[in-house]
Amino acid sequence: MILPINIYSDDILRKKAKPLKGIDRGIEELIAFMFETMHNASGIGLAAPQVGHSVRLLVIDISGLNNYSDAKPMVVINPHILAVRGYNDMEEGCLSLPGVKGDVERPAAITLKYRNEQFEEMTGEFSGMYARVLQHEIDHLNGTLFVDRMEKRDRRKIQKELDAFVSGSVTAAYPIAREPLTAKYS
Ligand code: NI
Repeated sequence: MILPINIYSDDILRKKAKPLKGIDRGIEELIAFMFETMHNASGIGLAAPQVGHSVRLLVIDISGLNNYSDAKPMVVINPHILAVRGYNDMEEGCLSLPGVKGDVERPAAITLKYRNEQFEEMTGEFSGMYARVLQHEIDHLNGTLFVDRMEKRDRRKIQKELDAFVSGSVTAAYPIAREPLTAKYS
């Protein structure tokens, strides 16, 4: 099932999401729907709050990107960044801000502790696009959007686009939600 995606200015995108205590059929279903929703929107990452569920769950699939065709899709639950190394600048976008792009500086590599789709505890080192997308999605679990991390001067250039989201004029090539859905899994 393709879920509608919450858009910038929806309250759920600004909440701190709650940790999951385990996996049940409802969560398995949500994970499957999140992959379907992300692929339908040609996204490379999606966090549960973006589809109306304020829980610490995200999915990524960067296999469509150049040089990452072997990348396996990942389910990440209750992530904790243990360490970061280096910094780089990269242009980001977000399915919750259709059409908006901007440069963001982030750590270039991270050590991440998380639980996988079997709720097993994992620790991994991630760099390149993995580090970039994981950090963007983890931000969503803390109510942070990439535009919050843009330099003020760059952000001023996109302010009109952000204001348009608030006033309700949004177009996207995929279903969007303007109200948070009932948080069935939180
Ligand atoms: Ni995003």
